[in-house]
Amino acid sequence: MSRDVAIVGTGTLAEVLVGALREGGDEGDWELLGVLGRDPGRAADFAARVGPCPVLRPEDAVRATLLFLAVPDDRIAPCAETLADLDRRLGPAAFGGEAFVLHAAGSRGPEVCRALEGRVAAVLHPPFSLAGLGGGTFGGRTLVAHGDPGARAAAEDFGARCGGRVLWVEDLDPALYHAACALAANGLSALLDLAARWLECASGGSLGLETALGLARSSIRALEGGEAHRVLTGPVRRGEAGTISRHLRALAGRPRVETEFYRALFPLLRDLAVRGGLPPSEAAALDRCFRDPPGEEG
Ligand SMILES: NC(=O)c1ccc[n+]([C@@H]2O[C@H](COP(=O)([O-])OP(=O)(O)OC[C@H]3O[C@@H](n4cnc5c(N)ncnc54)[C@H](OP(=O)(O)O)[C@@H]3O)[C@@H](O)[C@H]2O)c1
Repeated sequence: MSRDVAIVGTGTLAEVLVGALREGGDEGDWELLGVLGRDPGRAADFAARVGPCPVLRPEDAVRATLLFLAVPDDRIAPCAETLADLDRRLGPAAFGGEAFVLHAAGSRGPEVCRALEGRVAAVLHPPFSLAGLGGGTFGGRTLVAHGDPGARAAAEDFGARCGGRVLWVEDLDPALYHAACALAANGLSALLDLAARWLECASGGSLGLETALGLARSSIRALEGGEAHRVLTGPVRRGEAGTISRHLRALAGRPRVETEFYRALFPLLRDLAVRGGLPPSEAAALDRCFRDPPGEEG
């Protein structure tokens, strides 16, 4: 017998989940019961857009074996409370087994769903942007899961049913995990945007984001083949104090936030370079570039 899933919310994630349940793998026995939105008209528009998808009444949604709260992160707890109130008013449910609640907020734990006390809770977080994924499956991408051990099997086979590869982490620090995700995704965007602006400025507009992206792609390709300290290239890895001094002189007229960012990266690059074999004496010469104010080029 299949187990039913109610998706709460009618946004990007809800659309992906509906499409993934429709087109996903044979794994798991989850079937879409329907979606629940705050506004029946908007939910009907959603159902029309994404294809066959029943619009649920709240009293039907709360009786699904799996509730997926696909709402903004800070709305998960209030949403769980509203549904828990309704559940209590409806009286005991006949699930014929365990009932589950999942959400996809990377920086939050399962405890934000604690109001739904009859359900075991877990987090199923896609560590990638859903924009452009459309109504399809997760395409074999990794979904990071954690939470109540009683929800592990459900999270794993629900994720597989949606075409994902679930990586269950026993003991995850969600806030630090999500900070890392944000750094790798959004931080990279900010960094490449800055590099593009320096390229534009250096070249009178001939160079820009395309060149920055080309450099980033080659670094990412190298990283795919080895650890960062083994594949690092560039002036810090080569111990080129003269090059670093030239960089610092060129950046002296830039906004402070930009020079501070360049300086803040140095200890991380230095550490990688030393682990990759940069002799301590050469690392010390680089340190001096950052300690002493950049002078005129000799
Ligand atoms: N988008 C991504 O790339 C991505 C990636 C990883 C994780 N996630 C996670 O996925 C979850 C959903 O994100 P999303 O991108 O699908 O967001 P979204 O596109 O903004 O959709 C959220 C939906 O929640 C409902 N909602 C909005 N405000 C609400 C409120 N105040 N109270 C209750 N419901 C409300 C809305 O549906 P109704 O108006 O029909 O109620 C809305 O369509 C979040 O936890 C997010 O962190 C998203």
